[in-house]
Amino acid sequence: MNFELKTALLDNAALEKLDALIVLVGTNFVPATGRLSDLVQQAVKLGDLDTKAGKLLQLYATAGVTAPRLVLAGAGDLSAHHIRRAVLGAVATLKPAKNVKKLGIWIAPAAGAEAVAAAVCAVADASYVYTTTMSKPQGRTISSSLLMVPDAQGMKPAFDRAVATVRGIELAKEWGNRPANHATPNLLGQAAKALAKLPRIKCDVLGPKQVAKLGMGSFMAVAKGSQEELRFIVLSYSGGTKAEAPVVLVGKGITFDTGGISIKPAADMDEMKFDMCGAASVLGTFRALGELQPAINVVGLIPTCENMPDGRAVKPGDVVTSMSGQTIEILNTDAEGRLVLCDALTYAERFKPRAVVDIATLTGACVIALGAVRSGLFSSHDELAAQLQAAGEASLDLCWRMPLDDDYAEGLKTNFADVANVAGRAGGSITAAKFLQRFAAKFPWAHLDIAGTAWKSGAAKGSTGRPVGLLVNYVLGQVKPDATPVPGVKPTKPQARKPVKTGKPVAKLGHAARLP
Ligand code: BES
Ligand code: MN
Ligand code: ZN
Repeated sequence: MNFELKTALLDNAALEKLDALIVLVGTNFVPATGRLSDLVQQAVKLGDLDTKAGKLLQLYATAGVTAPRLVLAGAGDLSAHHIRRAVLGAVATLKPAKNVKKLGIWIAPAAGAEAVAAAVCAVADASYVYTTTMSKPQGRTISSSLLMVPDAQGMKPAFDRAVATVRGIELAKEWGNRPANHATPNLLGQAAKALAKLPRIKCDVLGPKQVAKLGMGSFMAVAKGSQEELRFIVLSYSGGTKAEAPVVLVGKGITFDTGGISIKPAADMDEMKFDMCGAASVLGTFRALGELQPAINVVGLIPTCENMPDGRAVKPGDVVTSMSGQTIEILNTDAEGRLVLCDALTYAERFKPRAVVDIATLTGACVIALGAVRSGLFSSHDELAAQLQAAGEASLDLCWRMPLDDDYAEGLKTNFADVANVAGRAGGSITAAKFLQRFAAKFPWAHLDIAGTAWKSGAAKGSTGRPVGLLVNYVLGQVKPDATPVPGVKPTKPQARKPVKTGKPVAKLGHAARLP
């Protein structure tokens, strides 16, 4: 998707050469001069256009409007939330038309920069099409969006951030959506390597031997049942000085979760290809950082493997030794996410991080607790928790803080190891977080359980790219005011903003190194 930002009043917007024009009409619509403004005013006055967010009125071949299709979209109070709802609705009605390529969106003067960012993210979200494993990929029809605002210059920083965030969200969606046989740990490693083409980004991908040498016995136990080799991905973005402590992001990268010997039921098991969405959100965040080049250091850690049943698979009751030295009794092989994350958390210690945030499709219990609206946020560090919560609100990528009382850890006690990997069914997302907390004592730590938010089920089945929006917002919020990025190791030539290429034939799927 190609994005453009332009200063335009409503009567200028009417003259743009577009396949469709969306006019976002807030409840406090202030009429201006011109035919289109008159039309909007009439539609509101006669009661045919409801200005509640999400209400639509479609018109065709309107006098004075160059675009053949005109969508008047109610946008409520013009808040980011309402703009998002309005744009999602309007774009959804235009998506089936096979000839809407260039879209224009006019945003009323009263809307702020957050509203512009919300419009960018919403148009990308609603027009997204997955194509990678289609034999005849159609690609996305809506390929270019022109945003028209009263003050393009003033809104440019928010716009640029939003466009970079969209690049990250779409990278996360791509890897989330790929089936497990097209998104193996090795391919995820290649996707991370491809990110290292961006300025200031480096990537190391460790294999089984190096991981064994590090003593990651817990991570290795999960990977044992699979024919696919595990990978441990280490990404770094260096925009700050060498001395500056980094933010570390840790993403769960289970490319397929059968449950292992504690095997899952068949129904909907296909959705466990999404069990690497935490990893995908880390890749997506680095994609955005590579574009925005902020003055901060960020490390990304991704333990990635499959969780499979096999003659060599880890068995319920097995005790393994984690990198931290703590022994773990694996009572349920389906609680594998925490087993790969705990070793990655221990690895994070070497960076002396200012904060570590892990992101994981960790528990079905979190889906029960919070549904698909908010991710679960767990943290023993109030300031970090507040920053993440605020970043979620600002990016419309919401999360909600959950408790971490020590009493919740009671069920993790066992007679056979330092800790068990599961407690009872009650408070399942919290006991999972309590397990992780044991490995995160040496730095401010937070955990995002994205089991309910990372993908949608049913007819709209697909990755959401969450919580890339939250993470990008959080990381940018950590940049010191007035800090300028240190010189990059690679020539920082501006990255060409080519539209995301979709439509690769299946035969070319080996090209994981390509950077969407
Ligand atoms: N990847 C799953 C969590 C999951 C399940 C996410 C369903 C979204 C939908 C995780 O590895 C898992 O299987 N967790 C178990 C933990 C249990 C065995 C303590 C769960 O939630 O059932
Ligand atoms: Mn599992
Ligand atoms: Zn899992």
